[in-house]
Amino acid sequence: METTSARARTWKTSRALKENATRGNDGTRARMRAVRTNAKKEYSLTILPGDGIGPEIMKVALACVTEVGRKHDLKFNYTEALVGGAAIDKHGTPLPAETLAQCKASDAVLLAAIGGYKWDSLPSAQRPEQGLLGLRAGLGVFANLRPANVLPQLIDASTLRRDVVEGTDIMVVRELTGGIYFGKPKGFGVNEAGERIGFNTMVYSEREVDRIAKVAFEIARKRKGRVCSVDKANVLEVSQLWKERVIKVHENYKDIELSHMYVDNCAMQLIRRPTQFDTIVTGNIFGDILSDAASMLTGSIGMLPSAAIGLSGPGLYEPVHGSAPDIAGQDKANPLAQVLSAAMLLRYQFGEEAAAAQLEKAVNDVLDDGYRTGDIMQPGKTLVGCRKMGELLLTKLSK
Ligand code: IPM
Ligand code: MG
Repeated sequence: METTSARARTWKTSRALKENATRGNDGTRARMRAVRTNAKKEYSLTILPGDGIGPEIMKVALACVTEVGRKHDLKFNYTEALVGGAAIDKHGTPLPAETLAQCKASDAVLLAAIGGYKWDSLPSAQRPEQGLLGLRAGLGVFANLRPANVLPQLIDASTLRRDVVEGTDIMVVRELTGGIYFGKPKGFGVNEAGERIGFNTMVYSEREVDRIAKVAFEIARKRKGRVCSVDKANVLEVSQLWKERVIKVHENYKDIELSHMYVDNCAMQLIRRPTQFDTIVTGNIFGDILSDAASMLTGSIGMLPSAAIGLSGPGLYEPVHGSAPDIAGQDKANPLAQVLSAAMLLRYQFGEEAAAAQLEKAVNDVLDDGYRTGDIMQPGKTLVGCRKMGELLLTKLSK
């Protein structure tokens, strides 16, 4: 039941976000853009399979999206493009200009994962990760929504006790295009003692904090109405400004309960009593770390989707997990986070609620039937590979 209500809340959230985007603080138009031909809605999607397990899980997700489209009279035009290691190998750069242009010209972008051992020794500016960061910045998708809710079927797959994780339903709203990931100056140098140093800058402007705080309050309004802003204001100036602005923006959201927590305490509280959280809003690097921690409450990071959205234009939808090079090409990957990311895309970008819900139901149903990939396997369940999981989903969807 908990899942159903969580889902219902997400629907409303998406609508609110969309309305928000339509109104657009900067006067921009809504993200939604569909071409009507013969009563069939057409959407263009840029597909970025990336590296590692990316291509395997993307294949499953696309088959599912196509099938759900067939059911709901939606036509998806896919254009595949290169990013990350795959782009480095072909073009010598993790984000070729044509990939970004292609993404910008489409209605939405579905990404799998990037990175792998092969490119690990490259200088940071040429690493696959730069492709992802460039994509986020290039698309202006500053708000990263990372839900972590515990599915009843997977409670016992969590490394934490059932009584701790049961009922967990958290939305991490991570700022995605600022903070220490993008701050300048950054680089390498030499200090007065002649030692080599490396440095980055953690910086947020008022505008950047205000807009992410607004997204979080809007989302919380459609959830349990509680926002916890996570910072390190006991040490960092950037966090003091963050906190000040969140409090300021909160003046327009008096119906929402706002609390503040230091990031170290938050990491601890997530593991101690995760059910105390509803919506968490935080900066780029804290959100990166906390969303990984939150994901493990649910049993596996292989289950978690995410959406990255801006005020207008195509959003970027991707699983929270990485490219898992250790199991790439072995048909062991869990494709469910990729499928759920596609569901987020349908809901948040296009407002195709019925299609999104059907994808989510298919995931729910195969889990109910006891099928599990290795990462969520438990005694008494049936172990399947990535391809088989895809076939099972398709069977559910085509019913
Ligand atoms: C994530 C990843 C990325 C990040 C990496 C791959 C650049 O960890 O999406 O959480 O740090 O944002
Ligand atoms: Mg991460």
